[in-house]
Amino acid sequence: MALSIPASLESQLDELVTHYPQKRSASLMFLHALQEHFGYVSNDAVEWTAAKLGLQPINVYELVTFYPMFRQEPLGKTHVKVCRTLSCALAGSSEIRDHFCKKLGLNSHAHTPQTTPDGKFTVEFVECLADCGSAPVVMVGESVLSKASIADADRVLAAGR
Ligand code: FES
Repeated sequence: MALSIPASLESQLDELVTHYPQKRSASLMFLHALQEHFGYVSNDAVEWTAAKLGLQPINVYELVTFYPMFRQEPLGKTHVKVCRTLSCALAGSSEIRDHFCKKLGLNSHAHTPQTTPDGKFTVEFVECLADCGSAPVVMVGESVLSKASIADADRVLAAGR
């Protein structure tokens, strides 16, 4: 296994397990912690988690593929999330996402997050970002762009290149 876990993180996770009646109940907490540390959940992280919790890798892998908050690939340096839920869709979020994809050479029909080969951008369509009154809404990292426009997208692209 190629996963290199810092001793402090491993001992933190070992301690966490003691709070649950069954080891497997700590699975999601392990995955959150590993994603926070590595930026995504690799196959090695899945196997490591399974070994730690006395599970089969499939028991962990199914969590990673079921919950949309887990990523199986590293994110680009600039992470763009475009809301596709109703208010934003009606306000033109598809055009904004298409614009990002076109400018970055990404497939605008893909259903999964896409990262540019140079690792500078990840673009994805997401469900409601809880700012529906300001549609269309885009998140860039932790920043929210309300009433986002194509001009905003161009500024994000220029800043991330
Ligand atoms: S529908 Fe886009 S933020 Fe809610």
